Amino acid sequence: MKVLGIETSCDETAAAVVEDGRRILSDVVFSQIKTHKKYGGVVPEIASRAHIEKIGATVASALEKAGVSIGEVDAIAVTHAPGLIGALLVGVNFAKALSFASGKTLVPVHHIKGHVAANYLAFPELTPPFLSLVASGGHSEIVGVEDYTTFQTLGRTRDDAAGEAFDKVSRVLGLGYPGGAAIDAVSEGVDPSAIRFPVVEFQDAPYDFSFSGVKTAVVNYIHNARQKGETVDAPRVAASFQDAVARALSGKLIRCACDKGLKKIALGGGVAANTCLRSMLKKMCEEKNLSLFLPPPALCGDNGAMIAAQGYYEAVSGHSAGLSLNAKAVLPVGFAGS
Ligand code: KG4
Ligand code: ZN
Repeated sequence: MKVLGIETSCDETAAAVVEDGRRILSDVVFSQIKTHKKYGGVVPEIASRAHIEKIGATVASALEKAGVSIGEVDAIAVTHAPGLIGALLVGVNFAKALSFASGKTLVPVHHIKGHVAANYLAFPELTPPFLSLVASGGHSEIVGVEDYTTFQTLGRTRDDAAGEAFDKVSRVLGLGYPGGAAIDAVSEGVDPSAIRFPVVEFQDAPYDFSFSGVKTAVVNYIHNARQKGETVDAPRVAASFQDAVARALSGKLIRCACDKGLKKIALGGGVAANTCLRSMLKKMCEEKNLSLFLPPPALCGDNGAMIAAQGYYEAVSGHSAGLSLNAKAVLPVGFAGS
């Protein structure tokens, strides 16, 4: 079964064709990073307009690279939630029009489920149940993947997403946008133990995160240093911040896996590309005898293939939508119908 996947929830216009949820036939990602870079972050209205400009060519290119016509595709999967509402609407309306014109089944896909499904593309042996951490610019969630379409949120951020904190700290350190990859690069080989930034714990919710505190701690540290006329050692601050975020994400994830008796852990989202997080998790999983699935960095960020992969499993479970499908800026992943 061939599924066309369409993703426009943030700043990537992406489309792909995937066979049986596992084999990538094409994967086209048009990144808007250059457009948003000068503003230091994603500007929602500019993102929507850029999606409108690129969506037609991106989908056409995905079909062409896969060597299939729209008539040979079995279903059209599209991210309908969560994300920037104007950006989501471009993909949803494009997919609806294509479904109407071609008569192909329309399949709505939750963005977080898509990030998890990126693992099916990288690891043919991976099957649910397992535990997943999805950490990106918009989300930081620990989800229990009960089967291909049933998810349970076990932990989530109470404030900022991990990627959001990376982007903010990078801006304050003058490392540019997007911040995650920049912080990752300058931290390479730098000792993170010199400055100890805090990891927040919640008594009532041991798997929940908070990243606004660590973000503020870094910003205060930099301001204090500058007020005293000291030069800020950007790589050292970046490495210490990265270490604090990685400790929070990996510590809570591993604790959750052990408590729930889940032996497999799969990562997703842009922050899952982080070198420090990946090596910390590898070490912890070895110690606890857990299997760790880390998709290649290209599949961690937003892409159409992950939407097509999840779309396949939604389609075989009988989940589809009519032309009344709407986009939703917010939709919990554990919610029935998400
Ligand atoms: O999944 P994604 O492409 O889009 C969203 O759904 O948000 O994630 C983008 C986020 C950005 O905040 C970016 O700074 C972060 O992922 N990111 C990283 C790395 N690469 C991207 N964060 C930490 N380390 C990285 N290597
Ligand atoms: Zn994403």
